[in-house]
Amino acid sequence: MPNFARGRSQPRSTRSKPFAGMEYPDPKRKSNFLGKVLLAAILTALCIMMLKQSPSFSAPSLFSQHEEGITHVLVTGGAGYIGSHAALQLLKESYRVTIVDNLSRGNLGAIKILQGLFPEHRRLQFIYTDLGDAKAVNKIFSENAFDAVMHFAAVAYVGESTLDPLKYYHNITSNTLVVLESMAAHGVRTLIYSSTCATYGEPQKMPITEETPQIPINPYGKAKKMAEDIILDFSKNSDMAVMILRYFNVIGSDPEGRLGEAPRPELREHGRISGACFDAARGIIPGLKILGRF
Ligand SMILES: NC(=O)c1ccc[n+]([C@@H]2O[C@H](COP(=O)([O-])OP(=O)(O)OC[C@H]3O[C@@H](n4cnc5c(N)ncnc54)[C@H](O)[C@@H]3O)[C@@H](O)[C@H]2O)c1
Repeated sequence: MPNFARGRSQPRSTRSKPFAGMEYPDPKRKSNFLGKVLLAAILTALCIMMLKQSPSFSAPSLFSQHEEGITHVLVTGGAGYIGSHAALQLLKESYRVTIVDNLSRGNLGAIKILQGLFPEHRRLQFIYTDLGDAKAVNKIFSENAFDAVMHFAAVAYVGESTLDPLKYYHNITSNTLVVLESMAAHGVRTLIYSSTCATYGEPQKMPITEETPQIPINPYGKAKKMAEDIILDFSKNSDMAVMILRYFNVIGSDPEGRLGEAPRPELREHGRISGACFDAARGIIPGLKILGRF
């Protein structure tokens, strides 16, 4: 900024005033001003250079272009148990993978393992985002060229869902709608949705088949069933290919021991059979009751 204030130390009589009534710029002040402008320009250029190097600078993402022969899959919940194994398998089979997770339940360790295994350029990226943030999700879709989505992200404990049903309807049903809307808006036409056997409730007849009526009995199962219905209704009038997986208790881990199920200790009370098996095997609990029997 030019300094328009008069210098107090300068006596009035010595101030440069060659002709009465006319103001001429003081050459000293002018060079001062130019120096400041130059400094500001250099600082601005430096800031721009630093911003460009920072990862948050909105330069086109390396994942923003479709590439012939490479399928780019968005794996939501890829820091979690099933999602991380799915991402590992996709990467092993030469897919390009973007993981979106809010780490509310997942494990950053799993992401680091995957990044270590597949450090190559444009193979894997992790984006920390909550799927409840529709704006952020839409931005992710506009900045990345996805060919398919595998939607695993969810809270997934039956017991917890009965205590906090709204959390489940929001996290499962509403977030699935957000993902689906973004897919539709950005022309992504393949969806694999991770649903659950909990959508069957307590069937009259065993074994459960694809024809078994879905009558869920808890908010977790109901929220998943609603998400399924939304997906199926949408797919009827669109060219989106959808697949819904309804699996039962998932157990096991990467045979090489790199990934596994790592539930948060605070979720133990909501119990999954898999976690209870591990706890019993490690002596953390005295035994495992199945249908009331040890
Ligand atoms: N584990 C099972 O036995 C089982 C059985 C049937 C269905 N499923 C379904 O499979 C999926 C994965 O289950 P899991 O066992 O791997 O669970 P998980 O808790 O290990 O993984 C879920 C992941 O989703 C993330 N997530 C949750 N809410 C999110 C949000 N709003 N935004 C972004 N990320 C979010 C979590 O941080 C976590 O990493 C779930 O949809 C679950 O309902 C699991």
